[in-house]
Amino acid sequence: MKINVNGKSHTINVSANPTLLEVLREQLELTGTKYGCGEAACGACRVMMDGTAVPACITPAVSAQGKDITTIEGLEKNGKLHPVQEAFLEEDVFQCAYCASGMIVSAVALLERNASPSREEIIEAMNGNICRCCTYPQIMAAIEKAKTSKA
Ligand code: FES
Ligand code: FES
Repeated sequence: MKINVNGKSHTINVSANPTLLEVLREQLELTGTKYGCGEAACGACRVMMDGTAVPACITPAVSAQGKDITTIEGLEKNGKLHPVQEAFLEEDVFQCAYCASGMIVSAVALLERNASPSREEIIEAMNGNICRCCTYPQIMAAIEKAKTSKA
């Protein structure tokens, strides 16, 4: 089967009915997307599917056929980080950074559908992303910064 990841078409093996996360990490070696809970509860594995942040750990790879998948590796363009990545760096958000790729993907998906979300809308959109290091104030500041820089 073919899937489109970060603007490139890839042929993948779905004989064992893998999840999208297994395909990304094990077949395509895109290891920026992390495995956390395995049950759609932590957000560590979020990737964008046609612009919506989805948990790759419970998404069957076959359901990605015909969709555009974007992982954390696909956000940088021509050697330049995405503005959301820049904002997270500038706010020095992360400690262990295990949650980082899922957090950033969720934030990018949010700002792509709503360029100027309210604080409540940011909290709602990021609700499925857990940071065990509790960097939530910095995450909020980074998203507010990215939103302003895009406006
Ligand atoms: S690993 Fe997918 S949501 Fe936690
Ligand atoms: S920075 Fe450690 S889980 Fe978020």
